[in-house]
Formats: sequence, structure tokens, C-alpha cells
Amino acid sequence: MSSIVEVTDLRKQYTSDHPPAVDGVSFHIRVGEIFSLLGPNGAGKTTTISMLAGLVKPTGGTATIGGHNIATEPLAAKRAIGLIPQEIALYPALSARQNLRFWGEMYGLSGKRLTDRVEEVLAQIGLTDRAGDKIQTFSGGMKRRVNIGAGLLHKPQIVFMDEPTVGIDPQSRRAILDMTKALNAEGMAVLYTTHYMEEAQELSDRIGIMDNGKLIALGTLDELTKTVGQADTVRLEINEGIEGIAQKLASLPGVRQSVRKEAEITLLVDDANHQLPDIISAVTAAGAHISGIEIQEPNLEAVFLHLTGKALRD
Ligand SMILES: Nc1ncnc2c1ncn2[C@@H]1O[C@H](COP(=O)(O)OP(=O)(O)O)[C@@H](O)[C@H]1O
Ligand SMILES: [Mg+2]
Repeated sequence: MSSIVEVTDLRKQYTSDHPPAVDGVSFHIRVGEIFSLLGPNGAGKTTTISMLAGLVKPTGGTATIGGHNIATEPLAAKRAIGLIPQEIALYPALSARQNLRFWGEMYGLSGKRLTDRVEEVLAQIGLTDRAGDKIQTFSGGMKRRVNIGAGLLHKPQIVFMDEPTVGIDPQSRRAILDMTKALNAEGMAVLYTTHYMEEAQELSDRIGIMDNGKLIALGTLDELTKTVGQADTVRLEINEGIEGIAQKLASLPGVRQSVRKEAEITLLVDDANHQLPDIISAVTAAGAHISGIEIQEPNLEAVFLHLTGKALRD
């Protein structure tokens, strides 16, 4: 299958006294695929997308979009992309339809093409019913959907969505995930960034895991979880006496990783059912109090923990 995006050894070092934000990243995105970059805050996801979208100049490497080199054919490369930023300027006193018409004109659409395209996009973002209402009456999630619509007006071959669900209510989050899948079902390729493993798992054909500017793993969900082997994730919520517990648990047989983040300890273990009694005994013997336990089969959280020794959750 042919590629819509090809990235080779892409790099960005903003300042010489800091390590590179993006440190030699290579991947390709297939036509019609949803490709996610998953990684914690500061991993380099936005910098990667910004370089591909022509907003940030790489300090090394190359990339093509739709066969067009981003450095030597930036306009052609940009035309192939629908960039969806988290915030765009919407006119609050104008309706959703008027705002989309404005953005459509910016892309050079006019007349019947503009009118038709705005109505198509309103349907795609599920706002046909509210198209005539002023933006100032919209929730944050609805505004986010208008942003997405603005990025679709020129019928790009691929949309770039940079953490599109951050800071919005669960219902709007659901709407955005469903919309992303619907767009993809119509043949649109998607580059999606997130630090939520659930979103990457639900949406992606393939996932690249980023940490410290590097792509540390890449594959389908199945391929990635297989790298962990037979293992379970155990998450303990501890409301009292958590100090030192993660280190104690790390020394138990069959515990491969043990990391603490605030009141939560995440363990990667060989066999949760078998080991849970020992884990609970060790916690209670140390005088700590468990307020919640969750066991999961290998998922992207476990892959991240396995590869980095760090928790992905924040
Ligand atoms: N404009 C900038 N100037 C200097 N450093 C930056 C700039 N933008 C991002 N960084 C740094 O680059 C690293 C990667 O950031 P970013 O690409 O925003 O990661 P992510 O989107 O995965 O959270 C971080 O250490 C961040 O502080
Ligand atoms: Mg970011």
C-alpha cells in the first residue's frame, strides 16, 4: 500500500542548551490509515506535527506529504494536509456556518462549491442542526468540532489532529472520536496525537510510541502488546503510607516494573492472579492502606512501562 506521509530521521533542536525535542524520528503513514503518536507531555508530538505542517523548521531529516517534500515544495505539501489546532480564532458573534464560510474563503473556495462544502462539513461534524446558532452559545466541545470542520473544508488527503480531546467534556470527546472514525471510513488518512492510551487503542491502525523525542516503538496494537509478552498490569490506589511502597513491591518475585505516580502505583507483573496475595501482603505489612485495585491485560500502558520504566498516565 502506498504512503501519504514519509518521515525520515526528522529532528528539531530548539536551543543548543536543551536536548532535541525531536531526535531522529522515522515513520510512514499509509493512504487511508489512522496513525497515532502516543506519548507523555513533552515527548515531541506537537513538534513533529508542526514540522510536517510547515509551522516549525526541522533542524535535520526530511519528510514528504503526498509525495511533496516539506522543505522544497511546502505549498503543495500543505495543500494535502488539514491541520486541526486545538484553538483557532472563531468569531463568537457569527454562526457556525458563517465561521466555516470564512475559513472556506481563506482556502480559496467560493460560490456554490463553498456553499456545498460548508454544508457537507457541517454534516460531518454533526452540527447541521446548530449551524445557524452563534458560536458564543456553543460548548467548548462544539467549538472544537467547528475547528475540526475548518480543517476539512479544502478536502485534504490527511488530517493532523493534535490532542483534539484535551480539556473537553466526555460527551464531546466521544463525538470527536466517532467523527475521526467516520472521516477515516470515508477514506481520509489521520495523524492523531494523544497521551491517552485508550484513544490510541480505539482509533489506530498503527501506533508510534514517543518518549524524549524518539519513536521507541511502532506497530499495530497487537504487535506492540506482544512485545511485553505474558504480563498483566496491576494498578493500586493507596490513600495512606505510600512512601517507599513502589520500591518494596519492585523486589517481589515476578514484579517486572513498579512505578509510583502520586497516590497510584502501577506494576507490570508476570501473572496478576497468582501474585496479588503477595502484593497485598507486602503493602499492608508496610503499614500502607489500599483503596483501589485494578488488573488489566497487556495494553499500551504496559508497553510504555515495559520500554521506559515510567508510567504513561498523568
Ligand atoms: N517553541 C519551543 N521552544 C523551545 N522548546 C520547545 C518549544 N516547543 C516545545 N519545546 C520543548 O520541546 C519538547 C517537546 O515538546 P512538544 O513537541 O510540545 O511535546 P508534546 O507535544 O509531546 O507534549 C519539550 O521539552 C518542550 O518543552
Ligand atoms: Mg503537544
